[in-house]
Amino acid sequence: MNLILRPGIAQDAETCGGICYDAFKTIAEAHNFAPDFPSADVAIGLLTWMLSHPGFYSVVAELDGRVVGSNFLDERTVIAGVGPLTVDPTAQNRAIGRRLMEDVHERAARKNFSGVRLIQSAFHTRSLSLYAKLGYDVREPLACMQGPAVNVSIPGYTGRAAKESDLEACNAICRQVHGHDRGGELLDAIKHGTATVIEHDDRITGFATIVGFFGHAVGETNSEIEALIGATKQFAGPGFLLPTRNSDLFRWCLEHGLRVTQPMTLMSKGLYNEPAGAFLPSILY
Ligand SMILES: CC(C)(COP(=O)(O)OP(=O)(O)OC[C@H]1O[C@@H](n2cnc3c(N)ncnc32)[C@H](O)[C@@H]1OP(=O)(O)O)[C@@H](O)C(=O)NCCC(=O)NCCS
Repeated sequence: MNLILRPGIAQDAETCGGICYDAFKTIAEAHNFAPDFPSADVAIGLLTWMLSHPGFYSVVAELDGRVVGSNFLDERTVIAGVGPLTVDPTAQNRAIGRRLMEDVHERAARKNFSGVRLIQSAFHTRSLSLYAKLGYDVREPLACMQGPAVNVSIPGYTGRAAKESDLEACNAICRQVHGHDRGGELLDAIKHGTATVIEHDDRITGFATIVGFFGHAVGETNSEIEALIGATKQFAGPGFLLPTRNSDLFRWCLEHGLRVTQPMTLMSKGLYNEPAGAFLPSILY
C-alpha cells in the first residue's frame, strides 16, 4: 500500500466532495441519522469554496494513485478549526484518517496556532476514539437543533444586519466569551450578507455569522442567542449546534418547538478557554 499526502488543489473538489458526501452518509445511515449533506453537490460546493479560499489549508490522501480522503484546517482565526476529515468508506480503518489528522497538526504547529478544535458526531465511535488518542479533550456535548422558525422577539434585544464597521465590537464580545476573536470568519459572513448583530442598551452585545450548521454565534447572555434564534427564518443545513450544558437555552429551544437531530461533540487540543457567556459553535468548530 503506497499512501501519499499532498496539498489539495481546486480540481480535487469533485472527487473529495464525493468522498466527503459518501463518508458522512454511510456513517449517519448506519446509525439511522440523516446525512449531514443532502447531496454530493452540496459537499462538492463546500469543498470547492474551501479549496479556493486562502484562509484554508488542505491535504489530500492518495492510496496507490487513487484519491481516498482529505482534511482541512480553517486558519482564519487564532484557534484553527479542523475538518471536514473524510476517508472513502472502502479505505477506512487503515490509518489514513490518522495520517490526515497528523498532517494538519504539523501545519498548525508550523503556523504557531495555539490550539485546534473540531466537532464530531457523537454516535461515531471511530472518530471519537481517534481524536481522543490524538490528544483532543471533550469540551462540550452539543445538540444539533432543527425545526420551524421560532418567530419570537426578545424585548430589549434588537437584531440588524452586521456591517464591517461592527467588526471590532463583535470581536470584543468574542474575546470576552472565548478569549479570542473569530474576526476572519465574521468578516467573510458580513461580506456574504448573512451576519446579524444584536443591540441591547444601545450597544452590540451579540452576533451570529449565521444561525445554522456552518455559522457561529456569541452573546453576553442567553438573551442575545434567543433573539438571534428567534429571528431566523430557516436554520441552514442540518441545524444549529447548541451546547447542552447551557440547560436554560437548551430548554428554551425545546419549549419553542425545536427538535434534536443528532448529538455532537466539541473537542479541542491545545489552548482552550472555558466560555464566559453564551455561544453556538460552527461545524467548522
Ligand atoms: C473518521 C474517519 C475520517 C477516520 O478515518 P479512518 O482512516 O477510518 O481512521 P483510522 O484508521 O486512521 O483511525 C481509526 C482509529 O480509531 C480506532 N478505533 C476505531 N473504532 C474504535 C472504537 N470503537 N473504540 C476505540 N478505538 C476505535 C482505531 O483503532 C484507530 O486507532 P489507531 O489510529 O490508534 O490505530 C473515517 O472513518 C470517516 O471518514 N468517517 C466518516 C466521516 C466522519 O465522521 N468524519 C469525521 C468528521 S469529525
